[in-house]
Amino acid sequence: MDGKRILLIVGGGIAAYKSLELIRLLAKEGIATRVILTKSGAEFVTPLSLGSLSGDKVYQELFNLTDESEMGHIELSRSADLVVVAPATADLMAKAANGLANDLASTTLLATDKPVLMAPAMNVRMWEHAATKRNVAQLQADGVHVMTPDTGPMACGEFGPGRLPEPERIAQEIRKLLAPPKGQGPLAGVRAVVTAGPTREPLDPVRFISNHSSGKQGYAIADALARLGADVRLVTGPTQLPIPNTVTGVKVETALEMQDAVKANFPADIFISVAAVADWRPAT
Ligand SMILES: Cc1cc2nc3c(=O)[nH]c(=O)nc-3n(C[C@H](O)[C@H](O)[C@H](O)COP(=O)(O)O)c2cc1C
Repeated sequence: MDGKRILLIVGGGIAAYKSLELIRLLAKEGIATRVILTKSGAEFVTPLSLGSLSGDKVYQELFNLTDESEMGHIELSRSADLVVVAPATADLMAKAANGLANDLASTTLLATDKPVLMAPAMNVRMWEHAATKRNVAQLQADGVHVMTPDTGPMACGEFGPGRLPEPERIAQEIRKLLAPPKGQGPLAGVRAVVTAGPTREPLDPVRFISNHSSGKQGYAIADALARLGADVRLVTGPTQLPIPNTVTGVKVETALEMQDAVKANFPADIFISVAAVADWRPAT
């Protein structure tokens, strides 16, 4: 992801502080972030914190002669690969859904031709309000990627959907949107087989021998190869993880089934075997 650039719009929600963690996570992967902070956003997080973590100027005003001569509001989104709004407040989403452009954030959202990802965060009643539902539907119809907010206890004391998705989940969505389209990238045309997770050796219809392998490493490797353009077969034992939508998953239970599935998916240019194959199986 080295060299990719995000334009991050931070809106006026209590979860604005989580945008700091998001910038840090992206920086670890070589993704640079430039920030637009709304007037309300600045009530919750300082431009100093955002600027220190992003290592860049934080843009706040539409009518700022210096900003306009250095980096016009149109250029702000032109220089990014993706525009991310986090937290996307009810107000920011309403403005974007209706094409309003009365501050730097909303004007940039209307002026951009780059993909836009919104990570909503608001009180559960705001999220479930008919107006917000209409706005989300409109944004999606306009091609905006709107994440589903997390569900849980809220700063306002209520419980339900409306929490900002955790920064790691937003980062994952960003990676997905920045990845080259299928069939493109440095590993385009390369076929990879990856094994992951444990295997399960039945002793009888109820009991089995297995281990605590989570499958996380193999799934992450498979996903990373796919994002570089490889055609990936992920042969996996039973795990709690969803198969990444970038790969073709082959689910197996036993070591012998895993062996058969791997052979069936050969030949491959790359074979990465990180499954924790059971050491034992019953003789009969
Ligand atoms: C303490 C406090 C917390 C708020 N939290 C949220 C929030 O999480 N989500 C939201 O949509 N609005 C929230 N609001 C309301 C927004 O700040 C308000 O609608 C503002 O105009 C949004 O500005 P923006 O368009 O720059 O995001 C909050 C307001 C206050 C006073």
